[in-house]
Amino acid sequence: MENRKILYSAIQPTNNLTIGNYIGAIKNWLDLQEQYDCYFAIANMHAITVRQNPAELRQRTLALLALYIACGIDPEKCVLYLQSHVSAHAELCWVLNTFTYVGEMERMTQFKDKSLRHADNINMGLMDYPVLMAADILLYGAEYVPVGEDQRQHLEIARDIAQRFNNALSPTFTVPEGLYMKVGAKINDLQDPSKKMSKSAENPNGSVFLTDDKDTIIRKFKRAVTDSGSEIRYDPQNKPGISNLLAIYSAFGGKTVEEAERYFAGTGYGDFKLAVGEAVADRICPVQAEQARILADREYLDGVLKSGAERAARKAGKTLSKVYKKIGFYQI
Ligand code: TYM
Repeated sequence: MENRKILYSAIQPTNNLTIGNYIGAIKNWLDLQEQYDCYFAIANMHAITVRQNPAELRQRTLALLALYIACGIDPEKCVLYLQSHVSAHAELCWVLNTFTYVGEMERMTQFKDKSLRHADNINMGLMDYPVLMAADILLYGAEYVPVGEDQRQHLEIARDIAQRFNNALSPTFTVPEGLYMKVGAKINDLQDPSKKMSKSAENPNGSVFLTDDKDTIIRKFKRAVTDSGSEIRYDPQNKPGISNLLAIYSAFGGKTVEEAERYFAGTGYGDFKLAVGEAVADRICPVQAEQARILADREYLDGVLKSGAERAARKAGKTLSKVYKKIGFYQI
């Protein structure tokens, strides 16, 4: 445990998670937890940058924790905690704000997208989102941050902020590196494979949610948009629909993309789509049952959060205190 490198990631407890979140994030964490000292957070402070229903946010927080555990993330091996339970996140965010330029934040793609989608609520938190994310990562001295492709820009800015602080005041932060999967870092919408599959998609048929039942999952895959031709080949440029389905199959069916191509050679699109749907349902449905079982045990979940918060706060507190010292905050 002593000399293991530190790894950090988080998911927002907003909407229902999709298989994109599972493939791009949680699934990879399963292997990573064996090799690294892992901190996995539930990013509820990020979640409120878009207006949330408070009762739902509370409920989704526990549901996400139960999901982590149901998927196989082990609270004995990793630190699982709720972001708002560790006040150092907000505190470091404030300091890092003074090392971040307004122009940089205005250029963030996700900020621009969300500003369009939530034009009535372009709040300061929405703009500051990447700085809070930088604070998350830097507090734990994380060397690696496994995320999907959509977080790449946020990770780059976290690196810039860390380097800027280190250069201004002396080496303090570990400069984190993103870990992106070769296949699966961007799972696309089933109805429009040019767009990423999203928790908040307008067309719910394009996203497969981790809460969908087997019939719904199969129906969504049967309706998935494919490409012209009849070959099942991984070629994201020319065959975005089929390539997306192959990436999904590979994540759930335990085969590499090449193996899946060979396995499905000569199969029609209809049968292929059905097979992908079945592979997804075969993994997701048992996880749902396990999640429901864990969710019923509130005392256990509270215990996990309590112990997670203590462990996280200890680590984060050390970093924060170092930062306060470097920045010239008088400490007693
Ligand atoms: P969030 O909650 O939007 O997404 C959680 C994770 O899922 C990945 N993801 C995808 N991967 C592949 N295909 C997709 N279609 C897809 N959609 C989402 C995301 O890349 C992410 O890894 N800002 C983060 C949460 C966060 C965080 C952090 C992450 C807060 N602090 C510190 C890393 C480190 C977010 O909104 O993720």
